[in-house]
Amino acid sequence: MNLEHKVCLVTGGARGIGRAIVESFAAAGARAVYAGDLAFDGFDEVTGRYSQVKGIDLNVTDGESIRGAVEQIMAAEGRIDVLVNNAGITRDGLLQKMGDDDWDAVVNVNLKGVFAVTRAVAPAMMEAGSGSIINMASVVALDGNIGQTNYAATKGGVVSMTKTWAKEFARKGAQVRVNALAPGFIRTPMTETVPQKVLDLMVSKTPLGRMGEAQDIANAATFLASDAASFITCQVLRVDGGLVF
Ligand SMILES: NC(=O)c1ccc[n+]([C@@H]2O[C@H](COP(=O)([O-])OP(=O)(O)OC[C@H]3O[C@@H](n4cnc5c(N)ncnc54)[C@H](O)[C@@H]3O)[C@@H](O)[C@H]2O)c1
Repeated sequence: MNLEHKVCLVTGGARGIGRAIVESFAAAGARAVYAGDLAFDGFDEVTGRYSQVKGIDLNVTDGESIRGAVEQIMAAEGRIDVLVNNAGITRDGLLQKMGDDDWDAVVNVNLKGVFAVTRAVAPAMMEAGSGSIINMASVVALDGNIGQTNYAATKGGVVSMTKTWAKEFARKGAQVRVNALAPGFIRTPMTETVPQKVLDLMVSKTPLGRMGEAQDIANAATFLASDAASFITCQVLRVDGGLVF
């Protein structure tokens, strides 16, 4: 897969799935890869390996922060070819125990954050007439999951926004593609807090018999970002080992 000449922004790019995507984009020869995140613990390992990777302060819930990051990239590079809306959080709990603060926190990052970052980046892509946007959804958007009312609702919204933008951004001949990835259960800091018996149950429902690795998602993201996927838009790609809920 070849990302030569492409300028990429990956939100939540400092760890977990986002970090694997950043590294894969750099390994595929991208011109510049910006990891937008709140914190960068241990990220110098990545910037040390790939000179074209840069950490950039970005809080997807803060309009000023989004504007600042996008302006900084545009000033340095003049373009953004690939946007991965990957930043996401969980605040799990059964419905009757889920507080308004749990709902608001997850909606603000996972749903409004995706809306706000895309609104800031898409005009440059439309102007250039090309681009690839990859939104991180989840299998729980499609199947639901106990204890994840807030999270599932946001990921369902991400799928709906993906399909809307695929139509909206292809107007007037623009080749701006918008797709979503729906990972199954992936070994990252996010799933470290999930009880082992829940993870074992998920693995038992996965025909390929294991949890996913961040690299499994990064491989799919690299394909969707590349020109090899130039006729693919408006899709939700499950990367879940065949998980059946
Ligand atoms: N791990 C899984 O099993 C799994 C499954 C399906 C979908 N996903 C989705 O994949 C994405 C990445 O998940 P992960 O497992 O790597 O999670 P993670 O918690 O390891 O990493 C998430 C990253 O997002 C960043 N982030 C959080 N809030 C932010 C904000 N306001 N602004 C900017 N960055 C912010 C964090 O700092 C962190 O670096 C998320 O959208 C998640 O919902 C994960």
